[in-house]
Amino acid sequence: MSKDLAQQTALVTGATAGIGRATALALAARGADIIVHGRDEERAADALRRIEALGATARFEPADLSDPLEVTELAERAGEVDILVNNAGIFHFAHTADTDPTTFDAHIAVNLRAPYLLVQALAPGMTRRGHGAIINISSGAATTPGSGSGIYGATKAALESLTRVWAAEYGPGGVRVNAVAAGPTRTEGTAAYGDAFESAGQAVALKRLAGPEEIAGAVAFMASPDASYVNGATLSAMGGQPALGQVQHLPE
Ligand SMILES: NC(=O)c1ccc[n+]([C@@H]2O[C@H](COP(=O)([O-])OP(=O)(O)OC[C@H]3O[C@@H](n4cnc5c(N)ncnc54)[C@H](OP(=O)(O)O)[C@@H]3O)[C@@H](O)[C@H]2O)c1
Repeated sequence: MSKDLAQQTALVTGATAGIGRATALALAARGADIIVHGRDEERAADALRRIEALGATARFEPADLSDPLEVTELAERAGEVDILVNNAGIFHFAHTADTDPTTFDAHIAVNLRAPYLLVQALAPGMTRRGHGAIINISSGAATTPGSGSGIYGATKAALESLTRVWAAEYGPGGVRVNAVAAGPTRTEGTAAYGDAFESAGQAVALKRLAGPEEIAGAVAFMASPDASYVNGATLSAMGGQPALGQVQHLPE
């Protein structure tokens, strides 16, 4: 594995589990120093152990992203960051009729306001130093309607929109901003949905769920010099759309 991210510091939000932890490991394998963000200390200790086993350095910075003050303090403690992965997110699925204001606000706070505040705080330092990469973790729910994924999908659609805006705002300063839209992925968070989630893999062309490391590979690519001319893009890591049906009669 090439160490093409050596000398770079990566802040990965929600790196104590699932896609975030796999991303932290993928970036560490490419030589980056990792700031593991999350809340759970035991999960954080486990993530740090795994990263350090790769020979990389890592530290834990806890913060509850639903609190804007804690987000700002996280950015201050993080210091100079070269790679920001806005991964932490919540998904409490409910039909619109059953989505109360608390659930609505929680999605906006964690999935949208926190990335917004982190970019606001950290991207100017990146432009001063003339380089940086920001990757926002989106979802198929941003573009594909799902009954019960309304407010969740809306936050991800907004994050994809902001990705394009930030790419335009910070691109001239040498900072690339992209998104990776993940398909259904086996994580601690989705385990709570049990068998109902297991069957979600059947809805994609590959006919299976993703492993978190498969999403992390796409994120690491977006962070790496291999993606040096990719800016404002949303990379689909969703396993492909299945065909609507079989074409029975092809034209001669
Ligand atoms: N899994 C999927 O199928 C899928 C598909 C598409 C997109 N995504 C997106 O991918 C990202 C990661 O999903 P995942 O399935 O890996 O999630 P997960 O297993 O539930 O892990 C969530 C991570 O986010 C952190 N987090 C959650 N709420 C937080 C808060 N208020 N403050 C600080 N940290 C918080 C958790 O930290 P602690 O545990 O330490 O509290 C944990 O590290 C999310 O943005 C999700 O929307 C997931």
